Amino acid sequence: MAGKVRIAVVGLGFGAEFIPLYQKHPDSECYAICQRNEDHLREIGDLFGVERRFTSFDDLLATEEIDAVHIVTPIASHAPMTIASLNAGKHTACTVPMGVTKSECLDIVKAKRRAGRVYMMMETAVYTREFLYAKELAESGRLGEIQFLRGSHQQNMSLPGWPDYWYGFPPMHYATHAVAPLLSLSKKEVENVACVGSGRIRGEYADRYGSPFAVETALLKLKNSPLRCEVTRSLFDTIRQYRESFDVYGTERSFEWEQVAGERHVLYSGYEDAERITVPDFGHLLPSEIAPYTLHGVYDEEHEHTSFIQGAGHGGSHPHLVHEFVRSIVEQRESAIDAACAANWTMTGICAHESALAGGKWIEVPA
Ligand SMILES: NC(=O)c1ccc[n+]([C@@H]2O[C@H](COP(=O)([O-])OP(=O)(O)OC[C@H]3O[C@@H](n4cnc5c(N)ncnc54)[C@H](O)[C@@H]3O)[C@@H](O)[C@H]2O)c1
Repeated sequence: MAGKVRIAVVGLGFGAEFIPLYQKHPDSECYAICQRNEDHLREIGDLFGVERRFTSFDDLLATEEIDAVHIVTPIASHAPMTIASLNAGKHTACTVPMGVTKSECLDIVKAKRRAGRVYMMMETAVYTREFLYAKELAESGRLGEIQFLRGSHQQNMSLPGWPDYWYGFPPMHYATHAVAPLLSLSKKEVENVACVGSGRIRGEYADRYGSPFAVETALLKLKNSPLRCEVTRSLFDTIRQYRESFDVYGTERSFEWEQVAGERHVLYSGYEDAERITVPDFGHLLPSEIAPYTLHGVYDEEHEHTSFIQGAGHGGSHPHLVHEFVRSIVEQRESAIDAACAANWTMTGICAHESALAGGKWIEVPA
């Protein structure tokens, strides 16, 4: 590809965080932005100095100069917008989840193959400093053989203030933050899943998606592996400090996520040894222009603003995601989270919810 990759960011809530990263990455530019509300579009465009602005996604897709699209819109629109973008010949990244049904995920895999473009699901959980630390432990052999993995993503969205589509959303339909680290560390896919639902959320939420459970807990059987994993999700009417975590147990060492935010994660070694550790930042894996964005709470001097600089929330993952998406386009290769991988991670949750509604029946995740 000649010149910088010209990216369009679509959806400017969470999506706005990625604009400065595409602007600063040496191989990309933030060529355009898109969202439906014109006032907010103007505000974000002015703040970051992005001149090309769209309120219509179709108009954006018809713009030849745009090489790649990063979609950060509400969940129900992920699959239709991803497929439209790939069909328009754009390299396409989309925030999680990939889609909300098995057929949406499989349709994206087909659209990606037809288009011959890069697809990447922008899963923050596999680029946090904790994940990169555990990955280094696994790949250096210091964990030994992995024996078990557990993921847990607990959030209480019961209070007002979230976009309306969230209320009553089936917890396992947004499970990728808890599933992805397990599959990425073990380098395996899920073959089948069984899940049980526990407790009940308030009726007015439960009725919206026909999803009654307060907590869903799944067992995953990994393909061609003796490993089984456990995943827990809760979204409403269950009190727990926010946690988006994984634990991994090996024959030499084990890593457990902290119980309470700030008390630090634990590394177990030997037979009885345990130490609280501070995980390092992984900016050294990135071009110097965006490396500082892996740190907690970096202040952007140019824009005199910090709120769109990622911090502890997503563990410094955003610049890694941008780098991987841009470099996969430049190098004309599959992204690290291509369509087949994203489909397995996302359908694991979709099948888990299906299993919970069927009383814990094992459900095959489509190949
Ligand atoms: N850690 C993570 O990976 C993470 C964190 C937060 C949010 N998310 C995901 O990001 C997505 C967006 O989250 P949010 O909190 O910003 O949501 P939001 O609902 O507040 O914002 C969505 C944005 O999309 C725009 N939009 C909606 N439909 C559009 C259309 N047809 N064309 C153009 N623009 C459109 C809206 O104008 C708005 O700017 C959600 O799907 C969520 O799952 C992921």
